Amino acid sequence: MKTALITGCSSGIGRATAERFHDEGWRVYATARDTDDITGLSEQGMETLELDVTEDGDCGAAVEAVEDDHDTVDCLVNNAGYGQMGAVEDVPVEDMHQQMEVNLYGPQRLTRRVLPGMRDQESGTIVNVSSIAGQISPPGMGVYSASKHALEAVSDSLRVEVADFDVDVVLVEPGPVETEFGGRADEEYPDAEDSAYSKLYTSQEERDDSLSRFTVTPEDVAETIHEAAEADSPKARYTVTWSFRAARIVRNVPPVIRDRLLR
Ligand SMILES: NC(=O)c1ccc[n+]([C@@H]2O[C@H](COP(=O)([O-])OP(=O)(O)OC[C@H]3O[C@@H](n4cnc5c(N)ncnc54)[C@H](OP(=O)(O)O)[C@@H]3O)[C@@H](O)[C@H]2O)c1
Repeated sequence: MKTALITGCSSGIGRATAERFHDEGWRVYATARDTDDITGLSEQGMETLELDVTEDGDCGAAVEAVEDDHDTVDCLVNNAGYGQMGAVEDVPVEDMHQQMEVNLYGPQRLTRRVLPGMRDQESGTIVNVSSIAGQISPPGMGVYSASKHALEAVSDSLRVEVADFDVDVVLVEPGPVETEFGGRADEEYPDAEDSAYSKLYTSQEERDDSLSRFTVTPEDVAETIHEAAEADSPKARYTVTWSFRAARIVRNVPPVIRDRLLR
């Protein structure tokens, strides 16, 4: 039986991924900042652990717990994350730093912990949950996009570095997904009242409304993550929604046209 360690299982993609892996016969270590949020997963037979990805000690203890019980982590899913939205000028540096702590340094902390075991057993998959924002950087999303672009850059280097040890590194890149993400991102908006960018915030709300009809479910993303984890030779990137393919097109047009499209 293979073992998966998954972050951010209190809701959304993380929860759906834990359930998918469990249903497919994996031994699942589902983690959350507050284990009360994942008692339902424990009742389904999964192991649950407290894990805040910004805490080095939590990351080490979680990997140690898996390795003490079952030798090694076969699949790490770095899913925990949130969206620090707002015009770049409106986001204080400490909020940008916190965004990187969770979305970028969190995966790095866990990756460094699981890799020695994966290298020793010459197998393993690290799945990093990125986003359409890992490919394009729309106005009002610069800080979140920076965290996902950086996660993509780190993953691209890592994939090549660990290939000789038969460890796979995969990026899963969803577009909009029906989860708590949007509501939580709204909470992270800077105070728009005095902002020079209030017009941007209004148009962003309209854009979010118009994109909502293209959302997929967290179960769709979980299916893709599971597919990547089971693949003998996984792809470097898995897209989940049509909007991602649209983003690739936007990314590759000349900047002058791209800027007009994004405006
Ligand atoms: N939903 C989308 O439209 C979308 C699109 C593309 C990519 N994504 C990515 O998908 C991933 C999952 O998001 P989601 O859509 O499932 O949103 P979600 O329902 O808000 O879930 C986010 C999860 O991350 C956890 N988390 C936040 N900060 C954490 C920390 N410091 N340590 C540990 N866990 C932490 C949350 O736990 P708490 O309950 O403790 O806060 C929650 O379990 C994120 O990386 C996000 O960037 C989402």
